[in-house]
Amino acid sequence: MEIASTVAELRSWSRSLRCAPGHSIGLVPTMGAFHAGHASLIRAARAACSHVAVSLFVNPTQFGPSEDFSRYPRSFDADCALAEREGVDLLFTPAVEEMYPEGAATFVEVEGLGQRLDGASRPGHFRGVATVVAKLLIAAEPDFAFFGQKDAAQVAVLRQLARDLRLDVEIVVCAIVREPDGLALSSRNAYLTAAERRQALALSRAVGTVEALVAGGERRADLLITAARDVLAAEPAIRIDYVEMVDWARLEPVAVAAPGTLFAVAAWVGGTRLIDNAILK
Ligand code: PAJ
Repeated sequence: MEIASTVAELRSWSRSLRCAPGHSIGLVPTMGAFHAGHASLIRAARAACSHVAVSLFVNPTQFGPSEDFSRYPRSFDADCALAEREGVDLLFTPAVEEMYPEGAATFVEVEGLGQRLDGASRPGHFRGVATVVAKLLIAAEPDFAFFGQKDAAQVAVLRQLARDLRLDVEIVVCAIVREPDGLALSSRNAYLTAAERRQALALSRAVGTVEALVAGGERRADLLITAARDVLAAEPAIRIDYVEMVDWARLEPVAVAAPGTLFAVAAWVGGTRLIDNAILK
């Protein structure tokens, strides 16, 4: 596995492969602290593409001023080992100044979508995500870029970005990887105490409740949202951020759930903000 830390190296790696017949490049953008969710994206890329690049960059611009940028989990050696094991060809690990050179003043804003769901509770978050992912896609020019449904609003924002900037990349969405008890894997789960880890299960319970009600024929969004809120409220340690039923492309509320509708929750468990969702069947 090669390790690159400059945009020029990433670009020349990609360009050298572009000349080879039958190649396809997959890019998996990450902020590191790898878990089985990240591994599933890398495996999907490995299965679909002849060459796989993974970026590992804790992107400061997607964190708000009072958020956890400085204490975000970092585990470079373990991440390198996992990437190597999973057959990654290139690990791109730039410094902050490499992605945001001194005086950088250009940002990518996905209007509308970027202000919904997590974008509403974390102002500027999707501007930071869109900016760094645009830089990565422009430098690596991958044929496919892999993202997790775990961050479903992020997927909607990035699909719109790829369309609007006319990028020649296919966005591939991978299923949510969960712990055996249902908790969606997240680098931020590392912040949870044992008690919070138990309380956090209310999120996947809320999602499961909505899925079960939909399977039983319920379609009214207000009733489904109320049922999910009740499940979350039963866990007093949890503070709800949002519970929403939206069109996955526009992230706008719907009155009636249909196949492909996104049901999404965000909640605080102690000092940790967690998210979960389901794309309804
Ligand atoms: P990060 O949180 O490291 O996540 C990297 C990718 O892993 C994202 O596409 C995310 O949706 C996916 N992922 C996280 N948990 C998952 C799970 N339990 N199951 C499946 N996939 C999961 O998302 C980011 O980084 C950043 O915003 C980034 C896109 C890299 C831009 O900085």
